[in-house]
Amino acid sequence: MERYRIRGGNRLHGEVEISGAKNAAVAIIPAALMVNGKCRIENLPRISDTEALLLILESLGAKVERIDRSTVEIDTTNATWMGADYDRMRRIRASYYFVGSMLGRFGVARTTMPGGCNFGVRPIDQHVKGMNALGAEVDISDFITAHVPGGRLRGASVYLDKVSVGATMNIMIAAVLAEGRTVIENAAREPHIVDLANFLNSMGADVRGAGTDTIKVNGVEQLHGGVYTIIPDQIEAGTYMAATAAIGGEVLIKNVIPKHLDCITAKLREMGVTVEEYGESVLVRSAGRLRRANVKTQPYPGFPTDMQPQIGVALAVAEGTSVITEGVWDHRYKYINELRKMGAAVTVDGRVAVVEGVETLRGASVNACDLRAGAAMVIAGLCARGVTLVEDIQFIERGYENFVGKLRLLGADIRIIDEPDGTERDTAAAG
Ligand code: EPZ
Repeated sequence: MERYRIRGGNRLHGEVEISGAKNAAVAIIPAALMVNGKCRIENLPRISDTEALLLILESLGAKVERIDRSTVEIDTTNATWMGADYDRMRRIRASYYFVGSMLGRFGVARTTMPGGCNFGVRPIDQHVKGMNALGAEVDISDFITAHVPGGRLRGASVYLDKVSVGATMNIMIAAVLAEGRTVIENAAREPHIVDLANFLNSMGADVRGAGTDTIKVNGVEQLHGGVYTIIPDQIEAGTYMAATAAIGGEVLIKNVIPKHLDCITAKLREMGVTVEEYGESVLVRSAGRLRRANVKTQPYPGFPTDMQPQIGVALAVAEGTSVITEGVWDHRYKYINELRKMGAAVTVDGRVAVVEGVETLRGASVNACDLRAGAAMVIAGLCARGVTLVEDIQFIERGYENFVGKLRLLGADIRIIDEPDGTERDTAAAG
């Protein structure tokens, strides 16, 4: 099994280029099924989740041509809703976006139940509520099967009981080819929601209000092809910001939208980190011990839940006691047990973690419990004295393009080794 081997203590210096937004890409690829023709997607992150979704599209009869490392051309002219690669679908959360795109285009859908990071129960009742409102009958077992008795979805008003990124995106996708107008209220407002709406509109859809809590969709007859460039990844950028803060150094994080990082920037400044914003980059500088802070994760524009483990590590080595309140997921502290193996002093009670900052962490063999927890363990290893081995790195490689290559370019002593013979995987330097 491959793992990361990290020798801690190196401060980070240099520049890192942020890739396209994972959580936009994993909705845009399934949404491409709605386009009766060719679309070209640029700035696509090269990560295992996007690769899996492109293979699922191909299993549905789409043609996928890779133009270069971050550009694909997708032709779904001859695609269908049947015969997907269900084994692959089962392994990722975003496979449920195929429900919206299959129903929208074909009036029929068959997907597996979604996989993804395990934070406890991850219901999809709001997705079903939206599809029912648009006129689909949905049956859930090991598969999600749905169909529209009248053949075409009809626009409707949907008031989400919970602010849900996935449900907001899925209903938006399904609604763009529905007959009439759809209004999604209490919608999520994340940057990747706006990116999906912009992608759909560039293909001829009529989506308005994305980024606010009320999204209006006027159904159209069909989507034409086009070209779309995905926005930079807010959480990847935040991860490098948190790493530089925790370990120390000076890093220019390029290809970002500073506005999307506002909450992360504000929190890091509160902790004593220097963050300078430029047009499409932020400069992060950190020296000496961080100050404590309290963090409450919330839907955008609040502090992102997907940054909670990463900021948790920075607080674990800060001066003083910090309190983290996880506002989105029931069980998103599994990484704390791993962090304790490295000497962190954290107590967890339900959704609240109390972090007593320690001077240093010590290297240990730890697991990546999920995508962001894994990134947090890498940050901890980079901070720790000695060597840290991070297992289950497949979770991390789902969401971070060339993570090791980018960190090595910043001076981190990290490599991918393949036990038992300890050979090292050739890590293409980021570029
Ligand atoms: C998306 O998950 C992201 N994943 C998650 O990022 C992220 O943590 C989450 O949004 C919140 O920002 C992708 O985009 C692929 P939700 P999603 O629906 O859509 C409840 C990462 O690290 N809920 O916004 O599954 C749910 O239980 C991943 O990149 C319902 O009750 O999240 C949760 O408490 C991890 N019913 C809350 O809403 C539903 O039908 C937010 O979930 C749907 C959700």
